[in-house]
Amino acid sequence: MNKNYFKIKKAIMSIYKIKDLEHYFKMYKKSVRQPKKFWDRIADENFTWYQKWDKVLDFDMQEANFTWFKNAKLNITKNCIDRHLSTRGSKTAIIFEPNNPEEEARHISYRELYEEVSKMANVLRDKGVAKGDRVCIYLPMIPELAISILACARIGAIHSVVFAGFSSTAIAARINDSECKLVVTSDGSFRGNKSIDLKGIVDEALESTPCVEKVLVVKRTCSDIKMKEGRDEWLQPLLDNAIPNCVAEIMDAEDPLFILYTSGSTGKPKGMVHTTAGYMVFTAYTFQNVFNYEENDVYWCTADIGWITGHSYILYGPLLNGATTIIFEGVPSYPDYSRFWEVIEKHNVSQFYTAPTAIRALAKESLDFVQPFQLDSLKVIGSVGEPINEEAWHWYNDHVGGKKCPLVDTWWQTETGGIMISPIPFVTPTKPTYASLPIPGIQPVLMDELRNEIVGNQVTGSLCIKFPWPAMARTIWGDHQRYKETYFSAFPGKYFTGDGALRDEVGYYRITGRVDDVIIVSGHNLGTAPIEDAINEHPAVAESAVVGFPHDVKGNALYAFVILKEVGESRLQENLEKEINQAISNQIGPIAKMDKIQFVSNLPKTRSGKIMRRILRKIAEGDFSSFGDISTLLNPEIVEEIIEGKK
Ligand code: PRX
Repeated sequence: MNKNYFKIKKAIMSIYKIKDLEHYFKMYKKSVRQPKKFWDRIADENFTWYQKWDKVLDFDMQEANFTWFKNAKLNITKNCIDRHLSTRGSKTAIIFEPNNPEEEARHISYRELYEEVSKMANVLRDKGVAKGDRVCIYLPMIPELAISILACARIGAIHSVVFAGFSSTAIAARINDSECKLVVTSDGSFRGNKSIDLKGIVDEALESTPCVEKVLVVKRTCSDIKMKEGRDEWLQPLLDNAIPNCVAEIMDAEDPLFILYTSGSTGKPKGMVHTTAGYMVFTAYTFQNVFNYEENDVYWCTADIGWITGHSYILYGPLLNGATTIIFEGVPSYPDYSRFWEVIEKHNVSQFYTAPTAIRALAKESLDFVQPFQLDSLKVIGSVGEPINEEAWHWYNDHVGGKKCPLVDTWWQTETGGIMISPIPFVTPTKPTYASLPIPGIQPVLMDELRNEIVGNQVTGSLCIKFPWPAMARTIWGDHQRYKETYFSAFPGKYFTGDGALRDEVGYYRITGRVDDVIIVSGHNLGTAPIEDAINEHPAVAESAVVGFPHDVKGNALYAFVILKEVGESRLQENLEKEINQAISNQIGPIAKMDKIQFVSNLPKTRSGKIMRRILRKIAEGDFSSFGDISTLLNPEIVEEIIEGKK
């Protein structure tokens, strides 16, 4: 073998894996000076391609057009599964930890995963699903969810996973928007001591989705459900008859891999489109580095696969690295508050990745739930989804990480596809509440109100990214104009994240929260407009405004100011509150219910008719001290009235 091979290989490996701070800065510099070369080398050495690219990147930030790894051909499941078979065939790819701890955990090896995914892919093909077709997946956290996703990717179908907590109206809207042909669901789901009738919810949704031809049903709860003749079929018998081999579809680098809906501050949810090659390269690279993954580690991310965190860091990122990843069906409080710690001990978890809202909920409970468990297997602990407050950071660091595991506070979004700003464990010194430094290849900037880039440190501004990265969403399904306007018009030539951030004296980033009308409740991204639409549909409601206010477990809670068409008695208002919350549950899902509803006679509005939300936010927070300039209000007297009503 060529002597140079080892030299080259070593150099390339050192690009894939960040080893120390000096190395990080070197890599970072390289990635900014020569981004194409940087990603070219990572993509070239670490993946299986049918055909390599002609060009690493083509882009136009004004028009929001991006092409990564132009004309390359691949299949992501070949990279997630097939290429591990010769070396890791019998290694566990997925550990399924059921909701009920009495039920035995299931270990699925890479070989078994290959067979299961192949069978499912053959079933989908047999049902008429072809490359480019959309498939809606509405499943609980069971292995079939992962298998269905990978099976879609195997045959080039575009998966659209809908979180199994969304209502029938929300599912129908998502199915219709991307015209899904087939739905994979289950008879029901287990969550804590509850069992939820998923199939009933799907049935209701499908009353208004003419595009759906077939529904495949996984048996999980064995509950009594209705099966519609000609449309619905149990999945298991089909799998039993399917061949455990399936030729992977050859995909172009820029073929869509999946659609995942996220809330917008206005209008209907945005179907973010992620494509194949860039997403693969970036999620694999970030998984390796942010979690300091090493062979034989057991990795656990507690998110639901219905969100981007689950897509990128339960499934794709770990499997691309040949890791063992846990799929957990349950909740942190069942059968009691020690469940997370029990699972870590049981499976010798090395990396644990969860959300601040879960940490805050668990930190409220006695330490007796944590202390009896052996958490020594942990090497890295992570946080995602919302800012982590200092108290939660320390509790997590001290009692879970035992002050020895780096805590990676990872900032990213559905739109970014993968982690953008995060400490690298054992490399970047951590600082409570700071996401710290960008991943190599990511160029964050802070912008002021005049759209100028803010240079220097100890500054705050709107967080933008000034250069493309491989896993960025490429468009909004069916609405490129909206994509362009939402992300590339506020600060021309830059991607606008919708978040505010500060950069401290050494250049560390701390995300301060949304600067638009998206509110993060228990780590779930909720747009105010769709919730207001749901409230306004109630026949008694004339108008409403929803804002967030701080909550010690959920991060933010929701507060609605509602104008009624006619003012009624308070007893009736109590009923109305229930009905309004029910309407929200029906339209969106229980996650969007209000914590507080206040009936008001009017809302503070500017002369142009815009609701002044910052005033409502302050009132909801209970801070009546200073409302800033309210001279542009059409009806300043309403502010006092609303404050009185709240007291
Ligand atoms: O406001 C930021 C917050 O979550 C938003 C993205 O939400 P979503 O698309 O649902 O993706 C969540 C999982 C990646 C961001 O715009 N966010 C996410 N991570 C952090 C965060 N805020 C502060 N710190 C974080 N680590």
